[in-house]
Amino acid sequence: MTDSSTNNNNKKPRYKQPNNAGKFGQFGGCYVAETLMPAVLELQKEYLKAKKDKKFQEELSYYLQHYVGRPSPLYFAKKLSDHLNGAKIYLKRDELNHTGSHKINNCIGQILLARRLNKKRIIAETGAGQHGVATATVCALFSMPCTIYMGAKDIARQAPNVFRMKLLGAEVKSVETGSKSLKNAINEAMRDWIANANDTYYLLGTVTGPHPYPMMVRDFHSIIGKEAKKQILKYENKLPDALIACIGGGSNALGLFHDFIDDPVQMYGVEASGKGLNTDQHSSSIAKGSVAVLHGNKTFFLQNEDGQIDDAHSISAGLDYPGIGPEHAYLHEINRVNYVSATDDEALEAFQLLCKTEGIIPALESAHGIAFACKLAKTMNKEQIIITNLSGRGDKDINTVAQHLGFKL
Ligand SMILES: Cc1ncc(COP(=O)(O)O)c(C=O)c1O
Repeated sequence: MTDSSTNNNNKKPRYKQPNNAGKFGQFGGCYVAETLMPAVLELQKEYLKAKKDKKFQEELSYYLQHYVGRPSPLYFAKKLSDHLNGAKIYLKRDELNHTGSHKINNCIGQILLARRLNKKRIIAETGAGQHGVATATVCALFSMPCTIYMGAKDIARQAPNVFRMKLLGAEVKSVETGSKSLKNAINEAMRDWIANANDTYYLLGTVTGPHPYPMMVRDFHSIIGKEAKKQILKYENKLPDALIACIGGGSNALGLFHDFIDDPVQMYGVEASGKGLNTDQHSSSIAKGSVAVLHGNKTFFLQNEDGQIDDAHSISAGLDYPGIGPEHAYLHEINRVNYVSATDDEALEAFQLLCKTEGIIPALESAHGIAFACKLAKTMNKEQIIITNLSGRGDKDINTVAQHLGFKL
C-alpha cells in the first residue's frame, strides 16, 4: 500500500507510518516553538522506549483489562440491521468503557508515560468533555494534579462532564477566546505547556499535535481494531466488508482502522457536516479544508483565503474542530480511507433510531457514524458486514438532544 517495509510472509507491501520524523507523506511533523523542543524530543524518545518495554506493555494491559474493562464487546445490532434490511451492522462498544468513551484507552497509556518521565502535573484540552473526564480520572487514580482547558461554549453544552471533572479533582479552565471551543482549548493548553514544560505533561486527546502524539495516540487506541478483528473472525469467520467511525481529530477512527489497514476492507471516516457542506457551519476539514500548519502539525484545516482558521460547527462538541489528524490527511491522499459526512439532523435521527431499535443511547459524535452506517447498509446485501465504532455513550448529550427535539428537561 505504501512505504518501504515488506511483510516476509506474503511479500505484500505493509503499511508502516509515520517515518522517523513523524511524517505521514507530506503531513504531520513537529512544528513547535524552540522552547518546547526539548520536551517534545524527550517524549519521542521515551515513547519509543516504552513501546518496546515489556513491563510498560504489561502495566498498560493490566489497566486496560481491570480498570477500563477491555475487551469491549462487539455486538451484532440485529434489530437495527433488520430495520434497514441490508448489511449486518456490528457495534464496537467502546461506550461501555470506564468513563463512557474510547478516550480512556489513550489516557491510561499517556499517564503511565508521564510517570515514566517523572512529570508532576498534567494538562489537557477537551471538547465534549469526554477526554477531560478520562484525563481527570487517570489523574485521580495516580494522584496527579491536573488542569483541563475547555472552551466556554463547550462548558455550557457539556455541563454534566464539567461537574464530573471537578468531582474527580481537576481544575477546569474556561477558554473565552475565539470560537470558545476545542481549537481555542488546544491553543491555551499549548501555551501552558510552553510555560511549564519542565514539570508538566500535556496529555493530548486526539491524533493531532506534534510528533509523536498522532502516532502515539493512534497506537494506544489500536486495541479497538485488534479486538474487533479477533471478535469478528470468531463470530463470522471472515473479515468485515466495511469499517465506519466518526471523526473529530480522528482518534477513535484510527483506533478501529489501524489493524485492518493492510486488509481488503473498506473504511469510512465520517466528518460532521453540521448544517450542510454548502453552509459555513460544519466541521468537514477534508471535504472543505486545505493544508496548513497549526497545533504542531501539518494537515487539513478549515481556513479562509488569508489563512485564518475558520470556526467549525457541529451539534456534537467532540466533532467541532476545524482540523483533522495528519494520518487521516495522508489516508485520504492515498485513497485508502473514504471520508464522508453526516449533518446535525442526520446524527439526531440516527441517535433516536439506535435508542429505539437497540436500547442504546449513543454519544452524538458516534451517532454521526451510525447515520452513515444506516445509509451504507441499505446499499449492501445481508451477507455483508459493517463494523461501526460506538465511541461513546449519550448521557452527556441528553440536554442538547432534548433542546433540539423541543423537550423541556
Ligand atoms: C464519544 C466521542 N466520540 C468521538 C469523539 C471525537 O474524537 P476523535 O475523533 O479523536 O475520536 C469524541 C471527542 O470528544 C467523543 O467524545
